[in-house]
Amino acid sequence: MKVLIGGGAGYIGSTIASACADAGITPLILDNLVTGRREFAAGREFYEGDIADGQLVDRVFKEHPDIDAVIHCAALIVVPDSVADPVGYYRANVAKSLEFVAHLLRNRCERLMFSSSAAIYGAGADLTVDENSPIDPQSPYARTKAVCEAMFGDIAAAQPIRVLSLRYFNPIGADPRMRTGLQLPKPTHALGKMMQAQEEGIPFEVTGTDYPTRDGSGIRDYIHVWDLATAHVAALGRFDALLASADAYTAINLGTGQGTTVRELLEAFNDVASVPIKARDTGRRPGDVAGAYTRIDRATKLLDWHPQYGIPESIRHSLQWAAVRDELLSGWDARS
Ligand SMILES: NC(=O)c1ccc[n+]([C@@H]2O[C@H](COP(=O)([O-])OP(=O)(O)OC[C@H]3O[C@@H](n4cnc5c(N)ncnc54)[C@H](O)[C@@H]3O)[C@@H](O)[C@H]2O)c1
Repeated sequence: MKVLIGGGAGYIGSTIASACADAGITPLILDNLVTGRREFAAGREFYEGDIADGQLVDRVFKEHPDIDAVIHCAALIVVPDSVADPVGYYRANVAKSLEFVAHLLRNRCERLMFSSSAAIYGAGADLTVDENSPIDPQSPYARTKAVCEAMFGDIAAAQPIRVLSLRYFNPIGADPRMRTGLQLPKPTHALGKMMQAQEEGIPFEVTGTDYPTRDGSGIRDYIHVWDLATAHVAALGRFDALLASADAYTAINLGTGQGTTVRELLEAFNDVASVPIKARDTGRRPGDVAGAYTRIDRATKLLDWHPQYGIPESIRHSLQWAAVRDELLSGWDARS
């Protein structure tokens, strides 16, 4: 089997590429390196360029007429940037996705997987969501994902392509074999902030302690990026069974089914880390939400997939990756 991964030189796409390769599936990478890393495409067939570049996509399919499926991870993903530059975000995530799918149709690609996000869900009363929960994205970034899902649904209903949207919860960790991980030196999620606090010897700030969760801090469904990647491999194997011609579009949540609060993550971090960190309670940040975790039934049933890694391994792999990242990303500009 052969798959084309748009955005395959990014954090998640490169991990999917490794999981595919380990499973005997050949990954081809298409990435314009706007945030991705050339190092993450090393050893793979790599097409450097834009998903919206029709000539390039035509060339990929001409050189590989045996592509079985396309995984579309290419996007801009920074929520505050999307608030500041909605035009840029809708262009990058929606307009280019539309161009991409048109190029795929022209090349008779029949199977597409789309990297969607749990951020498309509105806040639920009990902090859990499933695929039928109301869609109510809270940022321009999240809305680009919801718009793409609707667009792909309409296209799949009318054209000979079937689309599976995978709605990721909160990926953390790195490839357990340390081939790839988060390219950013200062990730903005809670685990990234904990790692930064450890490195700089400063307290970690628990931002928001009055959420309706068991300890008042925000809750997330942290999924190890390798588990996320193996879910794509499982979905590739079951794609045709999942998406029979009558049902050309569907969505599946990818999380662990376990909610972890910020305080619980901190406790787990201090259990794993060589140097424990202290914490300080502060108020909510603008735009922050209590969070949510998924009911996992649909993914386990349809994909026959279960996450293998828990929070401690995810933290351990993130710390291991942070220790080797600068060496592996040789051209990295430490100021960014
Ligand atoms: N990281 C998360 O927390 C998270 C959560 C939910 C969903 N997602 C989705 O998963 C996907 C991958 O995210 P990531 O965390 O790996 O981000 P990333 O920035 O590491 O990866 C995105 C990749 O896409 C490439 N890219 C962007 N626009 C492109 C274009 N027009 N043409 C070709 N390549 C392009 C970038 O260079 C990069 O390699 C995204 O679609 C994102 O919305 C991510």
